[in-house]
Amino acid sequence: MNNIDVLPLNMILNEDCLVGMKKIPDNSIDLIIADPPYNLSKGGEWKWDNSVKLDGMGGNWNKAKEDWDDFSFDSYFEFTNAWLKEAKRILKSTGSMWIFGTYHNMGIINVICQKLNIEIINEVIWYKRNAFPNLSGRRLTASHETILWCNKGGKKREYYFNYEFSKNGDFSSDNLKAPGKQMRTVWDMSNNKSREELLYGKHPTQKPIKILERLIKLSSKEGDVMLTPFAGSGSECVAAKVNSRNYIGFEIEKEYYDIAIERLENALPNSNQITFLDNVNMLED
Ligand SMILES: C[S@@+](CC[C@H](N)C(=O)[O-])C[C@H]1O[C@@H](n2cnc3c(N)ncnc32)[C@H](O)[C@@H]1O
Repeated sequence: MNNIDVLPLNMILNEDCLVGMKKIPDNSIDLIIADPPYNLSKGGEWKWDNSVKLDGMGGNWNKAKEDWDDFSFDSYFEFTNAWLKEAKRILKSTGSMWIFGTYHNMGIINVICQKLNIEIINEVIWYKRNAFPNLSGRRLTASHETILWCNKGGKKREYYFNYEFSKNGDFSSDNLKAPGKQMRTVWDMSNNKSREELLYGKHPTQKPIKILERLIKLSSKEGDVMLTPFAGSGSECVAAKVNSRNYIGFEIEKEYYDIAIERLENALPNSNQITFLDNVNMLED
């Protein structure tokens, strides 16, 4: 039997990814997009105003104030090691993994990738040109996230890369991408979401579909299987579906799982939906 026959394809499971990923066979996934908890919720009140100060961390931050985002340093380290170990096991040697983070957690993720011999291909800086201003005026305005592009590691470098798309795709809204030139590692994209992306409810750290679509097109083919361990409101799965990829998602919180299910029911496979929506009805965060 082919590995693909035993995968829970085109489903989001309301389950802990550490449990769920254990049921996925070795070397069966083409693409992993992981947007893990950032470990930014440290007690106190919910804030949307970028005024939260975290000990040992410069900058002010919107606080997610979520139980799923509140770890001790050691437990975050162990958690990251556990999910990355599973991710490496299930990823094909031809596959890719993209991991989102900020400087609060990316140092840990980078070190653990190296420890597990997961190869880091590139570190992308997602420049958010519409970042919320720093209200205290005592720090620089935080205006980027980091995305690591990785492969399974090992001697052969077999990961798929759509070089043609990276060079000649339509990136007209990215002021840092010159048409017909090689794609660089700094991407200029607002964090705005279209009305349709927010129609079924909001997630505090929801990713815009347009950046996920770029990751998917750069590193996978139609019909491939994309897995996201931390599905949230389902953005990665929606981006996979509208780009004719199969998807598997895990989301531990029922509230977000429900939003994701509704979004997926209303996303059209193999559609131009996202590209079209990227240019209209954009909302501020
Ligand atoms: C940073 S958010 C992802 C947001 C997502 N990219 C989106 O656009 O909606 C991380 C998500 O992981 C979920 N989560 C945390 N720990 C988890 C676990 N062990 N298994 C599955 N989901 C988990 C949280 O509930 C949260 O929704």
